[in-house]
Amino acid sequence: MSQELTLQQRLEACAGPDPLHRAVKDAVAALAQASIEISDLTSRGALAGITGQARGRNTDGDVQKDLDVRADDIIRAALGRLPIGVLASEEMADLDILDANAPISIAFDPLDGSSNINTNMSVGTIFSIMPTTADPSATFTQPGSAQLAAGFVVYGPQTSLVLTIGHGVDIFTLDRDSREYKLTGSMVQIPPDANEFAINSSNRRHWDAPVRSYIEECVMGAEGPCGKDFNMRWIGSLVAEAFRILVRGGIFLYPSDGRRGYEEGRLRLVYEAHPMAFIVEQAGGGAITGRTRILDISPASLHQRVPLIMGSIKNVQRVEHMHSQPEVALEANAPLFGHRGLFRI
Ligand code: F6P
Repeated sequence: MSQELTLQQRLEACAGPDPLHRAVKDAVAALAQASIEISDLTSRGALAGITGQARGRNTDGDVQKDLDVRADDIIRAALGRLPIGVLASEEMADLDILDANAPISIAFDPLDGSSNINTNMSVGTIFSIMPTTADPSATFTQPGSAQLAAGFVVYGPQTSLVLTIGHGVDIFTLDRDSREYKLTGSMVQIPPDANEFAINSSNRRHWDAPVRSYIEECVMGAEGPCGKDFNMRWIGSLVAEAFRILVRGGIFLYPSDGRRGYEEGRLRLVYEAHPMAFIVEQAGGGAITGRTRILDISPASLHQRVPLIMGSIKNVQRVEHMHSQPEVALEANAPLFGHRGLFRI
């Protein structure tokens, strides 16, 4: 019989008697329970009536699939038993202010990557736990550095829950026999320098010079300034990319680009970038927009988008350098460089 600590035991050990920590513990436990139900559903696919058919559009104009809405309901039901200040769901236009006296509030993306659900690709749930502010409606205007906890669940070949409560990152794997999460990775650290990059390169012609230059360097491999070959992956599912980076390092980029509506990238600050940045930094990595640390940003609106570049610290620092030293980017975009690269500029 396996001896791994369960999520519940781990949470209990970390929470101690402090009421704020206990509120976080209860919320994470409820989110974990909800995720087991969502995992059951996603794993049954068409047998559970998952068609991947559109139900409408969420606040960002993304097409809502049938399971987005069901996952949202499951999470709300699980959290409904707890004192929660404010709930913010990526699927809903507005905040739900529930209990102004409750110490914690939660933002969540119930099913990230759901546009791929009927292709049997990994999808996930992302959450961010914030202290409720005196004016509860201002809770999600706090910078990402105010987060008390953040996590995500990947519904893939295994269902895995990644969690930080501000003291490193743990990974739990769902044991389907006991229906409990068990600790399978403790104090996970992202390798500082890796040779794998992830970006949707079909948008290359729309990127700014610093991003083009960085990717050009990667593609030049051993013949370029990096002096080593890179591998590329693009799953199109943020949780799966983040999990891969936690396990073996690398860099993920969803930059701003020249397409209409992508001036600030694609991903949402409150529901995606803040929690991912907290996790990645807690695992020794970096998360920036290009010029700014993600955790320093205070959202101006609930569904604000933000460019997200995250992963192994040295790779992220190189992208930051490209942004802060335009001459480096210009040099990399020069004709000779362009001529030798795989992609012509
Ligand atoms: O935000 C939803 C999402 O599916 C992310 O999980 C993923 O990183 C991104 O969108 C993929 O975007 P695109 O289809 O533009 O590559």
